[in-house]
Amino acid sequence: MSQRSILIRNIKQLCQTDTGLQPQGVVRGADMSLLPSLDNAWLRVEAGRIHSFGSIADLGDQTADELIDATGRLVLPAWCDSHTHLVFAAPREQEFADRIRGLSYEEIARRGGGILNSARKLNEMDEETLYHQSQARLDQVVAQGTGAIEIKSGYGLCLEGELKMLRVIRRLKEANKVAIKATFLAAHAYPVAYRDNKPAYIDHIINDMLPVVAAEGLADYMDAFCEQGFFGIPETERLLEAGWKYGLKPKIHANQLHHSGGVEVGVKHHAISVDHLECVGDAEIEALLQGNTMPTLLPGAAFFLGMHYQPARKIIDAGLPVCLATDYNPGSCPSGNIPLLLTIACTQLRMTPEEAINSVTINGAAAMELEHELGSIRVGKKANLIITKPIHSVASIPYDYGNQPVERTLVF
Ligand code: NIG
Ligand code: FE
Repeated sequence: MSQRSILIRNIKQLCQTDTGLQPQGVVRGADMSLLPSLDNAWLRVEAGRIHSFGSIADLGDQTADELIDATGRLVLPAWCDSHTHLVFAAPREQEFADRIRGLSYEEIARRGGGILNSARKLNEMDEETLYHQSQARLDQVVAQGTGAIEIKSGYGLCLEGELKMLRVIRRLKEANKVAIKATFLAAHAYPVAYRDNKPAYIDHIINDMLPVVAAEGLADYMDAFCEQGFFGIPETERLLEAGWKYGLKPKIHANQLHHSGGVEVGVKHHAISVDHLECVGDAEIEALLQGNTMPTLLPGAAFFLGMHYQPARKIIDAGLPVCLATDYNPGSCPSGNIPLLLTIACTQLRMTPEEAINSVTINGAAAMELEHELGSIRVGKKANLIITKPIHSVASIPYDYGNQPVERTLVF
């Protein structure tokens, strides 16, 4: 932990400020359109934490070990990307081309492509290579402004492969300052060997994998791809109950391809979040209103697969919070670029720039249980921050799409 003090001066706009007067945490409904900010500001970092901030007029004669001039620039909390599959062995651009020619994502999966394709490649790769590849991807998203990230297993689909992925995630945690949460997703697809005996794979996950994962402290959360043709409701319930026994809270894939009941099952089992939500209507919204589970939308996947988008307006207008995450993975969204995600959220989900930024800062932090540490500019929080290039306003971030708005990401 760096003990150096840093003073950022001449900030054009300090965004997502939290003066401590409101209870910190999730932003929901109409409040999502509010993004508190301070024009012409300064911010002081001490020992990696936000020490103080204010208006330039009140700066006084402070100095610090490092002075940063942010003239014309915005400062925001670093992005909190609460759903990724950043550890993978190889891209799948052939399937991308096959989809353009007319094959569907589900059809590719049925033919042994998709997640099974990634699993084959992952199981052939040694841990060292996997680690270095993953580190390079992490470096890239941090440069794009990400300061906290969740990473899943789920391309091993066997004890050895799942442990290899989770150990790589642990090494990433140890080697990087960016906050990382690990999620156990052995229930991502049925491996070929279990195609004719699916219950035996659930038993294998619960009896053979979970105890080792828990004993080694390799995961924070439990996930399952709850979907028709993947893991159904009874299977998902068994997995989530088993995860809870080891203290792994659920964070699940739900309602990507069908109204599969995944949202309801997530709420019932007190999931931290239910993620994807392309297929969400009144029943799912009603279920979400009954619990504290975060609806997390992954529109990058809908964009890349050419599917219909999540009904973000309907969810926000019902008074619920919305979290956005990239879903960075080689199949359905090979990008961990949050600024691009914000553009998709604004143009396709009709979220305002303020709503979209709330979704990837404080609500993203909450979807990783980090809202007390990250996700807003609040005294005492970790100073994981974005300093933008010189830009017009906060709306320029989604507006100026395809151009990298982030100049520097600070992580502690
Ligand atoms: O979140 N939907 C399931 N899992 C991933 C995609 C995995 C893959 O295609 O490799 C997702 O979209
Ligand atoms: Fe995913």
